[in-house]
Amino acid sequence: MTSREIRRQFLDFFASKEHKIIPSAPIVAKSDPTLMFINSGMAPLKDYFLGNQQPPSRRIADTQKCLRVTGKHNDLEDVGRDGYHHTMFEMLGNWSFGDYFKKEAIRWSWELLTEVYKLPKDQLYVSVFAGDEKEGLPFDQEAFDEWKKYIAEDRILAFGKKENFWEMGEQGPCGPCSEIHVDLRSEAERQAKDGKQLVNADDPNVIEVWNNVFMQFNRRADGRLDELPAKSVDTGMGFERLCRAVQGASSNYDTDLWKPLIGFLESFSEIKYTGTYPEVDANWSMTDIAMRVVADHLRAVSFTIADGELPSNTGAGYVIRRILRRAVRYYYSFLNLREPVMYRMCPILAEEFSDVFPELKSQVDFVVKVILEEEKSFLRTLESGLKRIDALDLVNNTVDGKQAFELYDTFGFPSTLPA
Ligand code: SER
Repeated sequence: MTSREIRRQFLDFFASKEHKIIPSAPIVAKSDPTLMFINSGMAPLKDYFLGNQQPPSRRIADTQKCLRVTGKHNDLEDVGRDGYHHTMFEMLGNWSFGDYFKKEAIRWSWELLTEVYKLPKDQLYVSVFAGDEKEGLPFDQEAFDEWKKYIAEDRILAFGKKENFWEMGEQGPCGPCSEIHVDLRSEAERQAKDGKQLVNADDPNVIEVWNNVFMQFNRRADGRLDELPAKSVDTGMGFERLCRAVQGASSNYDTDLWKPLIGFLESFSEIKYTGTYPEVDANWSMTDIAMRVVADHLRAVSFTIADGELPSNTGAGYVIRRILRRAVRYYYSFLNLREPVMYRMCPILAEEFSDVFPELKSQVDFVVKVILEEEKSFLRTLESGLKRIDALDLVNNTVDGKQAFELYDTFGFPSTLPA
């Protein structure tokens, strides 16, 4: 199945279960003071969960553009280094607003994964909330009992608040969740070590693919939990991970979602992409990381600009500018590219997503122009900044506070300077 087909199957499946299919909200959270960017499928639907607004239907499904680069959900540091975290990603979701609850959510997620996508049942594990004494929350017996109908008991694992209690941010709707993990290791590796031990253990091949949140509470500003007026369901499936699992690819970047972008970088830089990762390959290459970072950041920047957030020196615009600069730093330093590159990749991206996010294709000339200007100006800054760094001779000297801040400003996120 191509990624387009995989996305379509998800939406068709939930349409067949009487869900209304809605388009993705813009990735910039303009009307939510608690968020800078939409960080999950449920974020734009928050007011429906809180009972502040009426949803267009009590059952909804969609694919939502998300960005996880700030606040409670920030994956930036992992991007490029592993094969399954991204800044911008799509979250497939089905939602119940005071309609169905755990039973149907669990049944349908199992049906979709095993019957439509045909993921092997013996490579799946699920988790349920173990409860939390401090918050006064019990073990999720109901979810456990539902899962028992579909999967062997020893594949149902209990985890605490960190893994199995989902919160949007410091405040807002939240609740216990049940995750589905898929073991994508080779047959031999699966025989040698039980996948159960690798769930939630940062194994690059045993990964969470879908989260089913049972929204029951609202976290108040003072930290207390209020019961929500109606019990709801919020599910989020990482589309790029799902594509990896369905296509049997060895990482998200080896799916048809990323190949055109990585392929472009290979031919433009004349460097071969070899698909290595620091956590698994002793001989990993920095050029592989750089290609993944540039491809990832291009997506983040392009979709955000198309949704109305221009790179700037404040707020969300500043975050976008820094992400773009981070990508430039990577291609400049590790792919030896001295001229703008990302603006050339933007039309490839726009074409690839023309069926689902047409807003990029319809504004592609504008987005290309903005990215090109940003790249040109940062490449100039980078050249002169690197000369200044050389002059500072950091091996033998220290820098004072003022110089340190200037460097920070020039080079973006300092902790992400590649080793
Ligand atoms: N809100 C949950 C998440 O982001 C499920 O959609 O994981």
